[in-house]
Amino acid sequence: MEVIVKETYEEMSRLAAQMVAELVRKKPRCVIGLATGSTPVGTYKELIRMHKEEDLDFSQVVTFNLDEYVGLPPTHDQSYRYFMNDNLFNHINIRKENTYVPDGMARDIPAACALYEERIREHGGVDVQILGIGGNGHIAFNEPGSSLASRTRVKTLDEATRKDNSRFFDSIDQVPKYAVTMGIGTIMEARQVIILANKESKAAAMAAAVEGPITAMCPASVLQMHPTVTAITDKAAGAKLKGDYPAEPHTLVLK
Ligand code: F6R
Repeated sequence: MEVIVKETYEEMSRLAAQMVAELVRKKPRCVIGLATGSTPVGTYKELIRMHKEEDLDFSQVVTFNLDEYVGLPPTHDQSYRYFMNDNLFNHINIRKENTYVPDGMARDIPAACALYEERIREHGGVDVQILGIGGNGHIAFNEPGSSLASRTRVKTLDEATRKDNSRFFDSIDQVPKYAVTMGIGTIMEARQVIILANKESKAAAMAAAVEGPITAMCPASVLQMHPTVTAITDKAAGAKLKGDYPAEPHTLVLK
């Protein structure tokens, strides 16, 4: 795993956006896996800037989001579809029909999950997957204890995750109890992974993910088995890492 510790959130976000932009320029029809939450917002802002100021062209790009709450319609301002439209898709020239978010309102959720996996395959798989990390080490909504081989499915959210995410809702009671999420096995099939973490609250999880044992109790630790992962943190989230990591990547060229 390539680990890069940046001084600030802005530098972390800029580097992640540069890596994505490089892929988009090299492979205009690429498939990008996207995350929601606070962490990637700076990366999305920088991609929007690059689209507006540097003509970064998303017209052929296809995206697949990691997860969606069960029971929230796309019009709900806390649904992940709404988040993606608001934080990225509405501001770039991507075609909405090329943006996939799991369907948390599907009548037959297992069938919708299977279809989601099929759509990813039909598009040739994910070229680069952007991830955040939960304070408990989760990736997407694969909470500790998730099968490291899991596929897209419904998961019950941990109370810790519901508490973390209650900042976006009026109260914790409004935070959905279930989510549809790509599985860890699904994420591991991406050709490249960029995992981002900022703030002190992520330092322990990042240390466990990067330098700890590979265990289902820290789902992000499975990324140690992936051949092309770049972990980018700000200084606070990198504070508990013991290794001596650079502030610059070996190369910006995607493998
Ligand atoms: C979001 C997702 C989650 C978040 C994680 C961190 O699509 O899959 O795993 O990446 O919960 O959330 P933030 O960035 O809000 O700290």
